[in-house]
Amino acid sequence: MTSENIKKIILLPGDGIGPEIVRVAVRVLKDCAGKFGHHFDFAEFPFGGCALDAAGKPLPAETLAACKSADAILLGAVGGPKWDAQPLGNRPESGLLALRKELGLYINLRPIDLRASLQSLTPLRADRANDVHIDFVRELAGDIYFGKHHVEADPSGERAVDEAVYTTGEVERVAKYAFARAEARTGRLTSIDKANVLSTSQLWRRTVTRMAANHPGVKLEHMYVDNAAMQLVLSPAQFDVILTSNMFGDILSDLGAALVGSIGLIPSMSRGPGPSLYEPIHGSAPSLAGKDVACPVGTILSASMMLRESFGLTREAEWIESAVDRLFVNGIRTPDIVEPGTTRVGCNEFGERLLAEMAGAAGQHQSTGRGV
Ligand code: IPM
Ligand code: MG
Repeated sequence: MTSENIKKIILLPGDGIGPEIVRVAVRVLKDCAGKFGHHFDFAEFPFGGCALDAAGKPLPAETLAACKSADAILLGAVGGPKWDAQPLGNRPESGLLALRKELGLYINLRPIDLRASLQSLTPLRADRANDVHIDFVRELAGDIYFGKHHVEADPSGERAVDEAVYTTGEVERVAKYAFARAEARTGRLTSIDKANVLSTSQLWRRTVTRMAANHPGVKLEHMYVDNAAMQLVLSPAQFDVILTSNMFGDILSDLGAALVGSIGLIPSMSRGPGPSLYEPIHGSAPSLAGKDVACPVGTILSASMMLRESFGLTREAEWIESAVDRLFVNGIRTPDIVEPGTTRVGCNEFGERLLAEMAGAAGQHQSTGRGV
């Protein structure tokens, strides 16, 4: 096997439930490699709160260097009450933001799909719960997340400032991806902003509007973020691809996750000029950690997104995703999505059952990937 055929995957399990869910997803990836004759090399590095404890920094230099040289990165989650008193800049979350910045990850794709097999979990009224398949494209490297943050004295006590910044170029590069995504789907793109109040949003809207002229196949609509929150609940099927800023995308994608049953189900890809990073959109859920009750599905689907998006292994990704769906159809559920009449299993058992389900289907599939 040549080195070209070996894919180097960096694992950042992080804190809370991170290590449990990443462990399950890695077993799935190893199984996939074995069945389809691929070679994945895994290396794990400290990141987040555990790295703060061990190395005094949430993103140690060796972790960053490993990520930069990876073919892809799989991340669990970071943060927890232990580090809540830490100032901004020295928290597990600051490691995540630094990693996004250092790798130039400006696109964050969060697919929100209401699966037929989990239809009963939606809090939506039945007539609103059809055709919910939304691709959130969240800008990930700018906005109020990366502007200056500071606190100063004020006669009333303190004055805190968070600066929100966007440049034309930053909007263009993420919008380019969203237009392409819409062209590859049904051609509907909704750009969400707060252009009635924020100058960053006005720049956002001007830029996206100008770009629409080069994408005649895309039906572009602009929507204010407050209305978008309401529309997502009242009429989610109107959305196909949503393009939005870092802050609004963070908030609205959690809302989207609630529509499809559980935030534990949602994967994501963060993409830039180098290696992409894959992570579930949920947090470290400290209260669930170590109890074998976490839902590994968001991480497993992040791993299958990695196969598809970074390695071109479409058939392998479908093999994993269809096995996940069959488990749901058979009523196999982690505690966050259990319902009367379904079988409650823990994080590990979900993984075991998934491997068995994938093994059952192995003979029906052949690799179509690029032979990694
Ligand atoms: C997310 C998370 C992060 C964010 C936190 C952990 C910094 O909520 O990925 O959605 O706000 O981007
Ligand atoms: Mg979030």
